[in-house]
Amino acid sequence: MYDLSHYKLKSEPVILGLESSCDETACAIIKGRMLLSNCIISSAAEQAKYGGVVPEIASRAHTEAVDEVVERALSEAGVMVNDIDAVAVTYGAGLLGALLVGLSFAKGLAYSLNVPLIAVNHIRGHLAAAYLDDIDLKPPFVTLLASGGHTAILHTTNYTHFDVLAKTLDDAAGEAFDKCARVLGLPYPGGPNIQRAAEGGRTDIAFPSALVKHSASPAFSYSGLKTAVINYCHNASQKGQVVNVADVAASFQKAAVDPLVENVVKFALQLGVDTVTAGGGVIANRYLREHLSAECKRAGLKLVLPQVKYCTDNAAMIAAEGLNKYLSGDFAPLSINAEAQIPLK
Ligand code: KG4
Ligand code: ZN
Repeated sequence: MYDLSHYKLKSEPVILGLESSCDETACAIIKGRMLLSNCIISSAAEQAKYGGVVPEIASRAHTEAVDEVVERALSEAGVMVNDIDAVAVTYGAGLLGALLVGLSFAKGLAYSLNVPLIAVNHIRGHLAAAYLDDIDLKPPFVTLLASGGHTAILHTTNYTHFDVLAKTLDDAAGEAFDKCARVLGLPYPGGPNIQRAAEGGRTDIAFPSALVKHSASPAFSYSGLKTAVINYCHNASQKGQVVNVADVAASFQKAAVDPLVENVVKFALQLGVDTVTAGGGVIANRYLREHLSAECKRAGLKLVLPQVKYCTDNAAMIAAEGLNKYLSGDFAPLSINAEAQIPLK
């Protein structure tokens, strides 16, 4: 019988994290804040043939990969399955069929070991990636969140709470990167390919900034920027002109990234918070990383910038967020279901 009534919380638990919300099947093991292993089996190459993630292919790929990725993570960590003190798993947001593979596996494992199941919101996982790079990181800090589904600046006040300071009113930054890549004829995944295409490109095409003008408090919008890029390419093709892909990519990248960097620094200074963190797939972007690092340095702010491998989907961040929830005793019932969408707050 699954019964946690005698379970004793540990200060440095061994947590197995599982992630299967999109096209990466990932498993990681942490002990306290120490990362012991971080394994990924990706179906991205297969998905690229179709120009994006096909949910049915993702679910099948997770089913085929989940046993192997867990075995690998345990073996690389040098941990026996019975050493696991809790199982943390992404329960949303993401593709339902894909999520169910990881969630069902995690439920079975938690049940068989009689240890807590911790249900992690994927986006909170992205935010927790910063704890992997600086194991001494403590709130409060201001965070730049830029992912495929969300774009916001947050004030993290403790390990389980944040306030939203500013956010996008429409599309997320990652969505805009992906759409612009498609318009420019660049393959899936769009973000990294825009980054590559932008190298050496000029940034003087006047695309509208992602910062909403005339708003009482800072807010972002990516739909106008996206439409401007689409119109620019469309007009050029109607005139029989060939667009300079590097210039469009570089100008778009700057319009998308600059207001995020400028405002995260502004908020940290305004709030008197000395640390800035960042999370989400778009934080893997080289231009964003360089610009954010330079601006934080100029403002005298400490920046905890997760390594690229912790910005894109992985299970180490799920385990890291799992630890935050574990230490606050926030466990999930085995009846918990997967959720395709979860609001940021
Ligand atoms: O954070 P994420 O996993 O999405 C959600 O969990 O919602 O990030 C995926 C997004 C995609 O839109 C992808 O194009 C973007 O992150 N991305 C990048 C880069 N690497 C991934 N965008 C810009 N530059 C990159 N290097
Ligand atoms: Zn993600």
